[in-house]
Amino acid sequence: MFTSLFRAILRLLAAVLALHTTIRIIRHFHKFPMPEFLANLIDNPLRRRLQPPGEMPIRHGIEPGMTVLEVGPGNGRYTVELARRVGATGKVVTVDIEPKMIERVTQRAQTEGIANLEAKVADVYDLPFEDGAFDAVSLITVIGELPEPERAMREFHRVLAPAGTLAFSEALLDPDYPLARTLIRRADQAGFRLKRKLGNLFAYTLLFERG
Ligand SMILES: C[S@@+](CC[C@H](N)C(=O)[O-])C[C@H]1O[C@@H](n2cnc3c(N)ncnc32)[C@H](O)[C@@H]1O
Repeated sequence: MFTSLFRAILRLLAAVLALHTTIRIIRHFHKFPMPEFLANLIDNPLRRRLQPPGEMPIRHGIEPGMTVLEVGPGNGRYTVELARRVGATGKVVTVDIEPKMIERVTQRAQTEGIANLEAKVADVYDLPFEDGAFDAVSLITVIGELPEPERAMREFHRVLAPAGTLAFSEALLDPDYPLARTLIRRADQAGFRLKRKLGNLFAYTLLFERG
């Protein structure tokens, strides 16, 4: 009885690993924005354990009163926590290339009574903001999904204030997961310096400052 249960669990784990690896290989050659119907699937209990929504703004160095840009909000679970953290004296602007994601975030903000959040459709490569407009730029499991991460990093450098912080959080569960050293090298090439690293191989956060 226990042997067959153990075998079934092993088979399930092997199937999940094979599926994850296959998606990872396909995604390596063909990057595109996450389909909208997956936004709630990636918002699951395991994910929330690795990357607790209420804790992520603190991991990203967000303080009350800041003006924060988030890129790629998905269903907005992390976005509303950013807005709560900056409070009434701060502001969060979130952009996504998928209009349906922006609709979801706007709906969530209304339902949860969040007033200091602006959500708009925009491409990360062409951010509709002035130079130095933000105290922080925050991304959670987004950079690995972009075909040209270096180009995105240059835009983050442009829209960040001189003392601003660029923050990335990544999770190994994500088929687009980049190694921390890859992100550090790319950020360095775009003119950022690593300020802080938190976490481990399974889930990590990197904070950068402008060099
Ligand atoms: C994997 S989801 C992450 C969602 C959310 N941050 C989370 O962790 O649950 C990536 C998000 O990035 C957005 N995205 C992908 N390419 C983009 C681009 N070029 N410009 C802006 N957003 C983009 C997708 O539409 C999606 O909402």
